[in-house]
Amino acid sequence: MESSSSSAVTTRSISSASGENNNYMVMKEYWQTWQAGGLHKVLCMEGGDDDSSYAKNSQASASAITLCKPLLLTAIQSLKLFFIETNEGDSDTAYYDSIRIADLGCATGYNTLATIDMIVGSLRKRYLNECGFDPEFEVFFSDLPSNDFNSLFRSLTAMFDSVSDNNNKTLNKYYAAGVPGSFYHRLFPKSKLHIAVSLSALHWLSQIPKVVLDKTSPAWNKGRAWIEGANKEVVEAYAKQSEKDLQDFLVCRKEEIAKGGMLFILMAGRPESQPPENQLGDDADSRAKHPFTTSMDQAWQDLLDEGLIDEETRDMFNIPTYMRSKEEVENAINKCGGFEIKRMEYKRIVEHSEEKQQEWIMDPVSYGRAKANLVRATLRPIVEAHIGPYLCDQFFNRFQTRVSSDFNLLHKTCFYGVIIVCAIRI
Ligand SMILES: C[S@@+](CC[C@H](N)C(=O)[O-])C[C@H]1O[C@@H](n2cnc3c(N)ncnc32)[C@H](O)[C@@H]1O
Repeated sequence: MESSSSSAVTTRSISSASGENNNYMVMKEYWQTWQAGGLHKVLCMEGGDDDSSYAKNSQASASAITLCKPLLLTAIQSLKLFFIETNEGDSDTAYYDSIRIADLGCATGYNTLATIDMIVGSLRKRYLNECGFDPEFEVFFSDLPSNDFNSLFRSLTAMFDSVSDNNNKTLNKYYAAGVPGSFYHRLFPKSKLHIAVSLSALHWLSQIPKVVLDKTSPAWNKGRAWIEGANKEVVEAYAKQSEKDLQDFLVCRKEEIAKGGMLFILMAGRPESQPPENQLGDDADSRAKHPFTTSMDQAWQDLLDEGLIDEETRDMFNIPTYMRSKEEVENAINKCGGFEIKRMEYKRIVEHSEEKQQEWIMDPVSYGRAKANLVRATLRPIVEAHIGPYLCDQFFNRFQTRVSSDFNLLHKTCFYGVIIVCAIRI
């Protein structure tokens, strides 16, 4: 739509919504700014702990973590233990430097705390069994500055309190710190870390590729919120951005992880056999049911059809995620150098339990609500930055209705793909 007609729609929408979305014009200027390289200022998972918070809607990531737990524990078992003696001349006392662990893209809630607990617990056991001493652990919870670190640290304190209530204090204790910033930049001094993990986070790109937002480019992603099913130029633009981002990530970690230290990544990914335009693999149901595809595009179209937004606003909303293949990840690690891949796997996760599915078939409205909450938890901050709070609520209402009315898909069992990689800094 040309800008003259799009502003007509905008004006109409402002008056029709009785001023409730009267910040729409301001929002439009705002998203034009953040989309041009300011994604890190708005991207985050929904904070707090209400029904649409990430803390209450992180089951998919939790399943992914459960899936990779045996690999992570095995990797920790085979890790070379660090002994960094910093004895300052007092022969009776040896001071061991702390063991330092970072979770990159930690968000809020149970997943990061449980993961760190598992890592610290199993490493501590090894030090006690193999070396007879209990080192100090420092844990860095890192995410973008917009992450709700307050909620995270409240949960952490509650967890520590509950542990000390059971007189089990020493087994779980570590020193915690928050590190705000993008994992596509340096976050730590040289050789600072012994273990860096990043779980369900690295498929988020650093920005929406500029050409995808350029109306004059063949890569203009018209009518779609994401790249599944998009034309070749759009997919290529995302693939290029993904390649650059992964390289930036690895180069930074190469500096920050001490030799012998471990980088463990779990990210959404696609099967090796699939080209990038097939982000969700070859299962048509999984593609259709994925929250970033059909229902998402329909909900945007609903807002457009109701005159609440203009076409440009719909088209300018893009979800900055990319599912890499094992080959893409391996190439990036080899290109970066300084890491030896110990293990790399693609795995499929069923989207929810059989029991949950049966429950939802009986009550599609509650399914729509659950799915909308799941998507609110991950996308609400960027949808709100795009269209403001009033229209954002309208959008998720449409999304919820669309999801609960698709009975056909409700009966399908769908899957997500993940790539797990464990590499040692050499
Ligand atoms: C789906 S959540 C996963 C959270 C947690 N690791 C888990 O497994 O539950 C993805 C997280 O990655 C973070 N993230 C995305 N891009 C990031 C970036 N460039 N730098 C740091 N964190 C980022 C998001 O803010 C979000 O908190």
